[in-house]
Amino acid sequence: FAPRHLLSIADLTPQELTKLIRNASAHKSAVKSGSVPSSIQNSLLGQTVAMMFSKRSTRTRVSTESAIALMNGHPMFLGSQDIQLGVNESLYDTSVVISSMVSAMVARVNAHSEVAGLAKHSSVPVINALSDLYHPLQTLADYLTIHEAFHTTQTSDNTQTLGLEGLKIAWVGDANNILFDLAIGAAKLGVELSVATPKGYEIPAEMKQIITSSAPNGTTFSIAETHIPEEAVKNADVIVTDTWISMGQESEKQKKLKAFEGYQVTKEMAQRGGAKAGWKFMHCLPRHPEEVSDEVFYSPASLVFQEAENRLWAVLAALEAFVVNKGKIV
Ligand code: CP
Ligand code: NVA
Repeated sequence: FAPRHLLSIADLTPQELTKLIRNASAHKSAVKSGSVPSSIQNSLLGQTVAMMFSKRSTRTRVSTESAIALMNGHPMFLGSQDIQLGVNESLYDTSVVISSMVSAMVARVNAHSEVAGLAKHSSVPVINALSDLYHPLQTLADYLTIHEAFHTTQTSDNTQTLGLEGLKIAWVGDANNILFDLAIGAAKLGVELSVATPKGYEIPAEMKQIITSSAPNGTTFSIAETHIPEEAVKNADVIVTDTWISMGQESEKQKKLKAFEGYQVTKEMAQRGGAKAGWKFMHCLPRHPEEVSDEVFYSPASLVFQEAENRLWAVLAALEAFVVNKGKIV
């Protein structure tokens, strides 16, 4: 039996991506109204999920541990100071050993090849909790948030879709892991995407290839790329950014702060560029003030705290699909 892993949104069909987000939404409603669905309660009873994190985390750790608690499983947090990986022991040995004792591994790594390597040698499902290339759990939460903010009642009754077709997302900032999975999701869900990055910080060509080839058969997807933030936000429904300095890039801080001058998301910038009336703002967090003004970040247009909470419902749906249902997304 080869386990099915969730390493990137690219691992999901458009139908599966839609279903996972719909499941997350249904679980959110049920738990909030006071009943943990029977498919969730005790679904991991007596089972351990190893959480191997070689970087800091607030949202991913707390949401994953809380989701496992809702399932009555045991989250075992293993920071880089706790286990032998990378110091005394190889990825191969670690993966074989840990996967022989737990039901799943949720891993936050540096290079994507590390989580891919864990998955390759694991006898249990591996879920990527952030690598330098992808953050699928964040993307699930992001599209759940966009669905909640934008779907119409008409589409909310149709379980086949999220009702996001034709919506426009504008990304203003660094071309990074958060953008890459968001873009793959856009290709799969029929969402329009424009991206503004400073010169020298564009989406790498190989990644663009992965993103555009994620569009379902019979459809094409292209990203409108620019170096001018105002151009990207034209007609945008949602403006999204992330930190300019991802974990591990601290030594590039001064250089990047300089390169990203003029990229702060502000009300004036959105107005100058002609974002749609009622545009919303998103950020996966943690946030730094240079990326977005307080005025936007703490305004009613900001979805950031709803987006953060949705990490819980997203990981709950992902654990249900990949760990409890062994990769069947139903
Ligand atoms: N957005 C996100 O993944 O946050 P953490 O790094 O705090 O987990
Ligand atoms: N791009 C950021 C996301 C943190 C959740 C990083 O990789 O550090």
